[in-house]
Amino acid sequence: MQTNRPKTKLLVDGGDPDETLRVKKLIGFVDGQTTNPSLIAKNPEIQQLIASGHTLSPEEENNEYKKIVQRISPLGGDAGVSIEVFADLHTAAEEMLAQGQEMFSWIPNAYIKYPCTHEGLRAAQLSVKKKIRVNMTLCFSQEQAAAVYAATKGSKSPVYVSPFVGRLDDRGEDGMDLVRNIKKMYELGDGHVHVLAASIRTVSHLLCSFALDAELATVPTKVLDQWAAEGFPMPDRHFKYRGVDASGKPLKSILYKDLDLDLRWESFDIAHELTTKGIQKFVADYRSTLRRSA
Ligand code: E4P
Repeated sequence: MQTNRPKTKLLVDGGDPDETLRVKKLIGFVDGQTTNPSLIAKNPEIQQLIASGHTLSPEEENNEYKKIVQRISPLGGDAGVSIEVFADLHTAAEEMLAQGQEMFSWIPNAYIKYPCTHEGLRAAQLSVKKKIRVNMTLCFSQEQAAAVYAATKGSKSPVYVSPFVGRLDDRGEDGMDLVRNIKKMYELGDGHVHVLAASIRTVSHLLCSFALDAELATVPTKVLDQWAAEGFPMPDRHFKYRGVDASGKPLKSILYKDLDLDLRWESFDIAHELTTKGIQKFVADYRSTLRRSA
């Protein structure tokens, strides 16, 4: 059990309440959870339903997702449970908001995940006005994080932004640099957006998130198991993170940009290929299991 609790809040990145409970017992606590369509589609009960030949209607899918997050909800602490709206590249903000509003009523500690796209940002802007907590997902650039900040200014609760570390690493760019750059940029702001390091693949990613003082990190149970097996290491002041790819080659640095957080969110160039690909993958994973008829 971990006695020296990190300042960074720890969330479980998954879609199986039994796994969350197991990891909570192993570590001694969990602060919250993030889910996404790919993770929900892998949930053992969903898999069982599908294996039995059952095709779920959209209402049944919603009910299954709801049941899963309702089981997870009491297991975590104050970082909440992030629930992702079903959005493809054409989903309008109003539709995301309607889904978000419904999902927000499922549990008392929900955060609604919207993608870092124009429509996702518009949905976030509308959501914070309605006091719906949000987690902006599929963040791959400092510009997107600046737009999240600008679009959600005035939010009463913390807004989360989720830079996807591992997916940037996968294409040879140092994803931890993005976390570092966003943290640095937000030092100039009012603190209403919290950085949630996501797409964590290794214990080194986790330790670097701690060293960078990310407010939160969402971590797959496999990595949490490894962290526990290594005796819950924490970075000391000599900690040095070296981003390397699968073959051990150094990753390309992502340079810091001077961006003005006082600009309107629409003025930032938020397009990123990995955000588009990420949305397509979530839709494909979901359709291959849950929405097979869609
Ligand atoms: C969490 O919010 C994200 O959906 C998750 O960390 C993505 O991780 P992956 O890149 O391993 O799919």
